[in-house]
Amino acid sequence: MVRIVPFAVEQWMDEYETWAKYNIAETCSASISIDDLRSLSDDPSRDPLSTSTKLTYGAIRGSQTLRSHIARLYAPPTGDDSSTTVSAENVLITPGAIQANFLLLYTLIQPGDHVVCHYPTYQQLYSVPESLGADVSLWKTSGEDGWKLDLEELKAMVRPSTKMIIVNNPQNPTGAFISQEVLAGIIDIARQSSIYVLCDEVYRPLFHSLDKTEWPPSLLSLGYDRSIVTGSMSKVFSLAGIRLGWIASLHRSIIEDCAAARDYTTISVSQVDDRIATFALDPLHAGKLLDRNLQLAKRNLGILKGFIDAHRDTCDWVVPRAGTTAFIRFSRDGRPVDDVALCQMLQDSKGVMLVPGRRCFGEEFKGYVRIGYVAETEVLETGLRELGEFLKAEYASVPLI
Ligand SMILES: Cc1ncc(COP(=O)(O)O)c(C=O)c1O
Repeated sequence: MVRIVPFAVEQWMDEYETWAKYNIAETCSASISIDDLRSLSDDPSRDPLSTSTKLTYGAIRGSQTLRSHIARLYAPPTGDDSSTTVSAENVLITPGAIQANFLLLYTLIQPGDHVVCHYPTYQQLYSVPESLGADVSLWKTSGEDGWKLDLEELKAMVRPSTKMIIVNNPQNPTGAFISQEVLAGIIDIARQSSIYVLCDEVYRPLFHSLDKTEWPPSLLSLGYDRSIVTGSMSKVFSLAGIRLGWIASLHRSIIEDCAAARDYTTISVSQVDDRIATFALDPLHAGKLLDRNLQLAKRNLGILKGFIDAHRDTCDWVVPRAGTTAFIRFSRDGRPVDDVALCQMLQDSKGVMLVPGRRCFGEEFKGYVRIGYVAETEVLETGLRELGEFLKAEYASVPLI
């Protein structure tokens, strides 16, 4: 039987989010409704819902239009003919990126394989390969050096049995990003031994603090045929409630193999979800939604910066450059506070929800908490105000580690 360790961050979210008054732990850009989605269109005859469509299973791999819209997200910038083109056939729809990651790993990883995984990151990316019998090496980054990945370290980690390198760009929980140069370096190393590279890109392209010229491309744009990306409607497009994600790869046989495994768990993704996602990713709407979330992220990050600057005596951070999350370290008298106790006491006292780093991202992240700052601005402001009150009145009683 497969042994799998508990998925700490998902369990924490499940336990705390239903009763949080101010949820500033969420990783999605503030969610939108069907009405909000409708308002993106200038044409009232276009609707994300169709009440007359018969609810069959629909297209098994996801509708052609949806997959074409997704393929377009990987189109090279105009004028760049060097990148490989992604088409609808390179895309497989899944119920969320969580399923996309699982399915891809289930399809490609076998007992005895060696896997290298970016760290800290979303636990699924290392715990699932481990549960499948892989030997996983964590490619660690640290806040001390700005969460940078070191390519020399990666080179030294690769073994003859290395099957896959897994990265996350932009990154949860740190809000760091991997530059084009480092992505290219990863591919150079992978290419030498035909290693698969999986990049979880659910937060791409929320590069809110980078000049557009610095935006790294998708891993797929670098043209290595053993690269695979996963993405979803949850974070960038504010539609976590439709549970729709995807796997995309230049390597058609990877998509075929994943589709064959997927037949056992997912006949098709809900037609209703497919239609809503198709509407949101229509070129007439997707840019508007992305702009809304880039603006929201910029505005809210400014508010969060103001908070951190005013509380330098208790916390510090590496300013996030992309994505929706920041990893903040709390300390007192030069020692990390117990982040689990901090989150529990804060939510009990003020109803503000955060995620403890040590519990959800690894033992070494003592004193760290993850904040999801691309919430509704008002929720972030009130949540931070309440957190400030808590720090004034109760921080002294949070235990140290
Ligand atoms: C890095 C990463 N990948 C995948 C997921 C799953 O997202 P979803 O299944 O909502 O698409 C998450 C959710 O937090 C995430 O942070």
